[in-house]
Amino acid sequence: MEKNNKNNIKETKTDKIESVQETKKVKLSIENITKTFNSKTVVDNVSFDVYDGEFLSILGPSGCGKTTLLRILIGLIKPDGGTILKKGKDITNTKISKRGMGIVFQNYALFENMTVLQNVEYALIVNKTPKVIARKRALTLLKKMHLREFENKKPYELSGGQQQRVAIARTLALKPDIILFDEPMSALDVSTRLELCQELKRVQKEFKTTMIYITHDQEEAFTLSDRIMVMEVSKISQIGTPVEILKNPANDYIKSFVCDNLTNKINNLKHFVELSNEQN
Ligand SMILES: Nc1ncnc2c1ncn2[C@@H]1O[C@H](COP(=O)(O)OP(=O)(O)OP(=O)(O)O)[C@@H](O)[C@H]1O
Ligand SMILES: [Mg+2]
Repeated sequence: MEKNNKNNIKETKTDKIESVQETKKVKLSIENITKTFNSKTVVDNVSFDVYDGEFLSILGPSGCGKTTLLRILIGLIKPDGGTILKKGKDITNTKISKRGMGIVFQNYALFENMTVLQNVEYALIVNKTPKVIARKRALTLLKKMHLREFENKKPYELSGGQQQRVAIARTLALKPDIILFDEPMSALDVSTRLELCQELKRVQKEFKTTMIYITHDQEEAFTLSDRIMVMEVSKISQIGTPVEILKNPANDYIKSFVCDNLTNKINNLKHFVELSNEQN
């Protein structure tokens, strides 16, 4: 298989931005990760770095391998080949609980029989944190996520946005230094998504957490991210800051999947604004 390709990907950046990024600390280094299911290669020799404290989106169409890659990073799936380094240490075969990573899923995956408070403190108690300390930390996180008024409610009594806030608080409880998100907003309406996006950015700044965020929504990726990694089927097509990608799309796929899609959305919005102005 062709040796891939951090160098090729970096060629898509301008020299100036490249030199700025070189000074950042690498938190995760993904080297030549490959995964095949039933003789179909779903992640094909993928390599990239994640910087300390950055918000990196993985943007790509349905079925391109985003979830598989994320599950490999956290340790839910074993890759067929390749290496994952965290701060230089090989964690490819490290247990999930020892990776210092948390994950937030699209479907919240809360414990339905537990209250909001119990959901958030559960992992701490399992981890043998004294009950008083676990309770205090859970309550602090619920306050930060604006959930104190719901602490005794069960998940089914909450809206989708509120449930996702609980899932984020629960993930933060164990103080992971990397949080992975698998399309956490896709079941939510637009205004809840916008609100939660702002919350996520706030949480990221406050906790200085590195975030890797899967989405198939160009707008979401461009609103939230320090850098975006665009995937085509099983491979990385381009990785760079939103401005770099818009200014220098690496190929026709990026032009169409990212740039044209964003331009169409903006033009549609402009069209509606013009229409509403005409009608006033
Ligand atoms: N456990 C599995 N066994 C067999 N095939 C799988 C398995 N998990 C994923 N696949 C296949 O791998 C491919 C990539 O799946 P993956 O879930 O990673 O895509 P995705 O980019 O997350 O898509 P979506 O945006 O729809 O969530 C798909 O063709 C899927 O059918
Ligand atoms: Mg997926």
